[in-house]
Amino acid sequence: MIVTTAGRYSQETLALAIDIATRYKLVFVNREKRSISAIEERYNDDILVVSSDSISIKLSGVEKPIVYHPNFAMVRAKRIIKGEVDALVETSKLEQGMTFLDCTAGLGADSIIAGMAVGQTGKVYAIEKDFSLYVMLKEGMNQYKSHLDEIISSMRQIEVIHSDHVKYLENLEDSSIDIVYFDPMFSTEIEESQGIQAIATVANQGLTTKAVEEAQRVAKRKVILKDHYRSPRFEALGFEQVKRKSSKFHYGIIEV
Ligand SMILES: C[S@@+](CC[C@H](N)C(=O)[O-])C[C@H]1O[C@@H](n2cnc3c(N)ncnc32)[C@H](O)[C@@H]1O
Repeated sequence: MIVTTAGRYSQETLALAIDIATRYKLVFVNREKRSISAIEERYNDDILVVSSDSISIKLSGVEKPIVYHPNFAMVRAKRIIKGEVDALVETSKLEQGMTFLDCTAGLGADSIIAGMAVGQTGKVYAIEKDFSLYVMLKEGMNQYKSHLDEIISSMRQIEVIHSDHVKYLENLEDSSIDIVYFDPMFSTEIEESQGIQAIATVANQGLTTKAVEEAQRVAKRKVILKDHYRSPRFEALGFEQVKRKSSKFHYGIIEV
């Protein structure tokens, strides 16, 4: 991946783009009034675009850029603030002070909600395998501005990690994380997950038995799977499916 700025940029944005490139050992490319497609043609690589109010990536060969945004997490966060119940928080029985390991970070929406539930005394770790998505998520969560303090403090406490989740789980101690969570890509399109559709081309869809076994060893309380309500994975991987009448995705639980 290479790093550049938006077409119009301030000195501050330029400094941030150079700083991001330096920290991840990526090449910084001066925009020089070129279009993103001209830069893509020249470098034939994913491009991270830094602008004054957003971080986005243009994945090589994928038509539309992905702008970092908390997406549906915004709606869910507002509902939580109003006192409504969030299905992930309820299923996981998440409480202040707990630890939550999100093994499929994606655009980080579930991690943000988990972060709100565990608060500043808890901790959320979010693992993403795809390097370009990982950089966008990590930097996007750092730069994102909102008047919702709950969202911002959750984003800033999440530790985003670039790894394959099996490799990461293998290095964790037994019973060291309260909740271990998987949200592998659905094979069926779901309206609510429009943000996720944007990353469908890079997101690896697999969830292995090995990953679930490791998760059971690492989890202190539960392993949770989010999947399409008709997914055979619940049964195949040993999860008890929690049915939700009005939703196309369900959660599955393994109590440990
Ligand atoms: C459906 S998305 C997760 C969406 C996420 N829950 C959210 O709220 O934005 C699945 C993500 O898991 C990542 N992924 C798939 N397999 C992985 C693995 N073995 N290790 C780490 N990340 C993985 C994909 O790259 C993708 O970004």
